[in-house]
Amino acid sequence: MTPEIFAVSKLRDAGFLDAAREVRLLWSATMQNRYADPDARSIAAFEALIARRLTHEPISHLLGYRDFYAHRFIVNSDVLDPRPDTETLVEQCLAVDFERVLDLGTGSGCILLSLLAARSNATGVGVDYSKAALDVAAQNAAQMNLEGRATLRHSDWFSNVDGLFDLIVSNPPYIATDEMADLQPEVQLHEPRMALTDGSDGLSCYAKILAGHGPFLRTNGWLAVEIGPTQAAAVSQMMTDNGLVNMRVVTDLDNRNRVVLGQKLA
Ligand SMILES: C[S@@+](CC[C@H](N)C(=O)[O-])C[C@H]1O[C@@H](n2cnc3c(N)ncnc32)[C@H](O)[C@@H]1O
Repeated sequence: MTPEIFAVSKLRDAGFLDAAREVRLLWSATMQNRYADPDARSIAAFEALIARRLTHEPISHLLGYRDFYAHRFIVNSDVLDPRPDTETLVEQCLAVDFERVLDLGTGSGCILLSLLAARSNATGVGVDYSKAALDVAAQNAAQMNLEGRATLRHSDWFSNVDGLFDLIVSNPPYIATDEMADLQPEVQLHEPRMALTDGSDGLSCYAKILAGHGPFLRTNGWLAVEIGPTQAAAVSQMMTDNGLVNMRVVTDLDNRNRVVLGQKLA
């Protein structure tokens, strides 16, 4: 039996539904030369990845990257694995005018850096409470040649932010404490808890962001957040309560409510 076939059967036996595709990805990531017979070192590296996968480590951590929107981002266990759902947020942000953007809870930097890469005249600030996440975002900014336009700061939401922004964007932790047990092991065991849950009802970060945004959002500017599919009404109401208007709720490709935007008028 070849190492790949053996690996597929091991993963299948352990309940991994997409075993063949995962093995293909990990095999091609470890083979130095796909046209030559694999050497012992490559096979050992491949088997080490399969062993890690059997502990439910996400494929993105094993490969070291995740493709998101138009770019490849470095990811590891210090950051949320960028999700396709968040591409809806990026698209909505690119539909409004901005030159200066603030990304609250930047993680890998996937939102901020995707926006800056698509708007060559824009500059922005990404903040995170996790210093380890900011290190990953800095590597991504360097890899995308965006260090000159992206400032990364350690901050508890707005605590270390200054200046005015045309766009404030955030994908904050929005999973309620009592929903954490339902998450897949890939997420529960291998993604940072601070990126997933607010340790409360899932809405407390929106409350902080909306209560604090006033001094930082320019008149006519937009505030856009990703939400969990059941949170649209609550987050829209918080936007109204905090003076935003022209609210829009946008669905993702699975037709679930995923983004809420509101505008600040004078
Ligand atoms: C859901 S993740 C989003 C990461 C990234 N923006 C993305 O969309 O993939 C939430 C991020 O918020 C950060 N965060 C949590 N609490 C924070 C706080 N009080 N201030 C700033 N960032 C915070 C987490 O460390 C995490 O990187």
